[in-house]
Amino acid sequence: MCEVEIRPCAWRELLTVYRIHQAAFDFPYGFSRFVYYKLFAPRGVLVALRDQKIVGYIIATTAWYWPPHRVGEIVSLATVAHARRTGVASALLTTVLQSYTRAGLREVYLQVAVNNTAALGLYRKFGFRQERRLARYYLDGRDAYLMRCELPFTPPPTIPPAAAAPRCRQLGKPGR
Ligand SMILES: CC(C)(COP(=O)(O)OP(=O)(O)OC[C@H]1O[C@@H](n2cnc3c(N)ncnc32)[C@H](O)[C@@H]1OP(=O)(O)O)[C@@H](O)C(=O)NCCC(=O)NCCS
Repeated sequence: MCEVEIRPCAWRELLTVYRIHQAAFDFPYGFSRFVYYKLFAPRGVLVALRDQKIVGYIIATTAWYWPPHRVGEIVSLATVAHARRTGVASALLTTVLQSYTRAGLREVYLQVAVNNTAALGLYRKFGFRQERRLARYYLDGRDAYLMRCELPFTPPPTIPPAAAAPRCRQLGKPGR
């Protein structure tokens, strides 16, 4: 399996990333949301490359929850269709969860559609558990699960080999 390189997204790559997002979701975010995260949480917008081509991305940030403590939030994650099931999303998630752990965060949250089998399989493998069901969370009326993962992160034993130790450029902690 080819190696995956994970590094911050450059401005010139943002449109490519957005096109991957558009192709992956029925109700994509607007491009302005990607510009927002690139402006205000640039270290959390990461791309995965294989053979120097972008094959996936993740947007990861942080937020303050009550009582006051900072948590990780996975905003968006996708792999191009032809590269799925080869460890790309696992490599991105591994990089982000390791960064959160290094930053001293204790938990990470995300939302995922209840019928998104692939994403649910991925997140469960990485230790995310369903916290609650969010009724009609998406524009098409689908429900979502709010999922939570406790840190520190320890890589699951069965993630694809290419994702176990992604080659990373020096990354700061995700988000602001
Ligand atoms: C979900 C998604 C990001 C997974 O990306 P990926 O690069 O294919 O994931 P990986 O190759 O790292 O897979 C890791 C694990 O996730 C699970 N998984 C991935 N795709 C799966 C599928 N189609 N069905 C069931 N489990 C799946 C498996 O446990 C897999 O490990 P395995 O291949 O050893 O069984 C990808 O399918 C995608 O881009 N989907 C559209 C966008 C999306 O739904 N994003 C998540 C929104 S919350």
